[in-house]
Amino acid sequence: MSRTEEIAKRRIFGIISHPDAGKTTLTEKLLLHGGAIRQAGTVKARKNSKFATSDWMEIEKQRGISVTSSVMQFDYAGKVISIMDTPGHNDFGEDTYRILTSVDSAVMVIDGAKGIEAQTRKLFKVCAMRGIPIFTFVNKLDRETKDAFDLIQELEDILGIESVPITWPIGCGLNFQGIYDIMKNEAVLYKAKKTLQLGEEGVFGPDLEDDITINNLRTLRDEIELIQGAGNELDMDKVRRGKMTPVFFGSALADFGTVQFLEHFLDMSPAPGPRKARLDGEDMEVLPTDDSFSGFIFKIQANMNPAHRDRLAFLRICSGEFERGMEVKLSRTGKPVKLAQSTMLMANERENVESAIAGDVIGVYDTGNYQVGDTLSDFKGELFFEPLPTFPAEMYSMVFPKDTMKQKQFQKGVEQLAEEGTVQVYRNEYNEVIVGAVGQLQFEVFQYRLENEYNAKVRMDRLDMTVARWLGEGQNIDRIKDMLDSRQMLVYDRMQRPLLLFANNFTMNYFTEKHSDVELIEPMNIKSTL
Ligand code: G4P
Repeated sequence: MSRTEEIAKRRIFGIISHPDAGKTTLTEKLLLHGGAIRQAGTVKARKNSKFATSDWMEIEKQRGISVTSSVMQFDYAGKVISIMDTPGHNDFGEDTYRILTSVDSAVMVIDGAKGIEAQTRKLFKVCAMRGIPIFTFVNKLDRETKDAFDLIQELEDILGIESVPITWPIGCGLNFQGIYDIMKNEAVLYKAKKTLQLGEEGVFGPDLEDDITINNLRTLRDEIELIQGAGNELDMDKVRRGKMTPVFFGSALADFGTVQFLEHFLDMSPAPGPRKARLDGEDMEVLPTDDSFSGFIFKIQANMNPAHRDRLAFLRICSGEFERGMEVKLSRTGKPVKLAQSTMLMANERENVESAIAGDVIGVYDTGNYQVGDTLSDFKGELFFEPLPTFPAEMYSMVFPKDTMKQKQFQKGVEQLAEEGTVQVYRNEYNEVIVGAVGQLQFEVFQYRLENEYNAKVRMDRLDMTVARWLGEGQNIDRIKDMLDSRQMLVYDRMQRPLLLFANNFTMNYFTEKHSDVELIEPMNIKSTL
């Protein structure tokens, strides 16, 4: 098979959801269908092994486990599918966001009873910014859920994305009887466990009359009529640009509606496509079929074994062919690096990988060379993929070394951990360190590693700030300083760009109203400070 054909078979996606919506359960069912795991409970068991303390060894153990489950690759219907794990719950952090910069599409799992929840909204924003296709799986149909129309309306109202149902529920909760596949014109029955191909008249014909209750059938007919009359039409161009989401219904726990979802998803989701980059300062696109090798690092994982400093860098391949032992250039330094030890990350185990192509994610061992966002390539000239955006931190702490004699270790540790992307690092006018994070675990890891790897014990004082806005270029900082009170704080990022921290959105809005001439920029519109 040619490389172009191999690339066309690849699908790489992340699952986004609010905790408890059913991401783990759905992942597990997809892996089961792909034969990647043999037993239900494998993914779940990992999830339940969550650490109880902030002890680093425990975090390492947990993180180690999540390393092997970070990318789960399996085959289904001739496709090579990689699911990227997007950590949620306690280990929700910038990694979760960064992983979404490496995927080609996203699956959004929604708890049918709850609708769109906070974490889904945040993760959706990152996907929407990249303009990648988003597929929606409304889960837990075996329980009472919200009305299906209300749910798709929420997608439009809360997330601002057009929706188009591909499958539709027949009843819900105790009366749940199955789903109707609108595209294939077939009904998949839940308790009766059978699939009916419907005749030309579809749900309006007699085929379903024996199998589902009069009430459910009446409702289904009304609803399908409404969808066909007033609903959005499937527009694949909009789907590809992330402006329209195909919607599916089912129950991950009962493994119902999941196969229908997977099959439509594989048909509609994109294979690896072109990626924006700059070559010798000129904008260009790297094609997956280009012969030169290229890829970028979107995550760095500290080693499980504290005796070894080496780390694992996750590399998304964007073009060419990876071969073990090859030499490539690290664009940031211009220096050659050898990709000697590398690993394919599988659901159950790590395997040494000899070769890989666009659409594959591999882990490469790192002895401290790499930073999150780095480009590796053997292109002639200097190739840089688009820098990662800055993700909105929601918590900030001031950090002080407990032992002033250890200033040097402290500063070195802060710099290196910032380079790895462990936390966002800022400084105020007195050169004091302020760190920002998306999740609490990031702070814990930062503190633990400073103490254990750099021998710098620290005190972390949580700040009452939750929102950051960068200042537009060319503004008079002295004038802005005069505007500030205790509810704002002026700090500088690692590129010396000034930003304001605000206690909350309310104080920020108040500030903008009062000082409408001050230009404020959202984090995601700022290129990464790494
Ligand atoms: P997450 O990864 O998104 O956090 O969610 P997870 O899959 O762990 O699911 C959260 C809870 O919801 C689990 O219950 C799981 O069994 C349940 N669940 C997932 N999908 C469905 C579904 O389609 N229908 C129903 N009724 N429940 C579903 P739990 O009680 O927290 O865990 P467990 O004791 O069942 O393992």
